[in-house]
Amino acid sequence: MNLGLVGKSVFVAAGSKGLGKASALEFAREGARVTIASRNLEQLQQTREDIQSITGNKVSIIQMDVRNNEDICNAIRKTAAENGGLDVVVTNAGGPESGYFSDLKDEDWTRGFELTLLSTIRLIREALPFLQSAGGGRIVNVASSSVKQPIDGLLLSNVFRAGVQALTKSLALEFAKDEILINTIAPGRIATDRIIELDRRRAIDRDRSFEDIQAEAVGQIPLGRMGIPEEFARVVVFYGSYANTYMTGQTLLVDGGMVKAL
Ligand SMILES: NC(=O)c1ccc[n+]([C@@H]2O[C@H](COP(=O)([O-])OP(=O)(O)OC[C@H]3O[C@@H](n4cnc5c(N)ncnc54)[C@H](OP(=O)(O)O)[C@@H]3O)[C@@H](O)[C@H]2O)c1
Repeated sequence: MNLGLVGKSVFVAAGSKGLGKASALEFAREGARVTIASRNLEQLQQTREDIQSITGNKVSIIQMDVRNNEDICNAIRKTAAENGGLDVVVTNAGGPESGYFSDLKDEDWTRGFELTLLSTIRLIREALPFLQSAGGGRIVNVASSSVKQPIDGLLLSNVFRAGVQALTKSLALEFAKDEILINTIAPGRIATDRIIELDRRRAIDRDRSFEDIQAEAVGQIPLGRMGIPEEFARVVVFYGSYANTYMTGQTLLVDGGMVKAL
């Protein structure tokens, strides 16, 4: 299948590690001109080296905190200026803090909103004019299985990811006329630093071993294992590709069957 990504300008937010890095790598393998952005410059440089040495394709890096609108505007404009426009945007960020309702104060809710929902709104708002002037494009939002089934102790994710899902559907309808296809991909448990960090915290909170917490979680997955970032990235790349011509406004789980809802 031809994904139609050769030479396309692809921007991956939070692309230095985990799911963002894996997605950037797969886009680069397909011959896209990839830009990754996140806060930590050293990590970005390392990831650029990794992707370039595997694919032989040039990768650009930009320092950006998705909670800062100026950073977002700068990153999107710079990407478009350097790569002759913008075709595909992956919105992504670090995960919000864990916590139950009684743990969370106004500042926590505000930070969660900025990191998870407002960053997606801002990235899309800044990117849209460039996608429109390219005659169309693809937007892929990285969310969580919490959009379909709340996750215990992850209230900020449960609430604000639902907003990302609603945004995806609304904007997909509004910008279909411009040939901009917008979808959300929702990971279940894909083995990255984020999952390890959450499981460590759960182990401490529940006074159980890390191994025990992980084994219990994997026991909920019909495929019997956590996913690997590449398995997630392949789905992101298809929805962010020009082989996808007729799917928009969707939220898709990549979860090994973990969520049981219809
Ligand atoms: N892995 C899973 O199974 C899973 C499941 C459900 C949801 N998710 C969600 O998917 C997203 C990616 O998760 P992951 O597993 O890839 O996490 P990860 O391995 O911890 O990577 C997080 C990435 O986000 C970047 N980042 C964090 N805060 C940022 C900020 N304020 N501005 C810009 N970049 C930022 C980090 O780079 P810097 O530190 O350089 O900024 C890093 O590149 C998260 O929102 C996570 O909650 C993941």
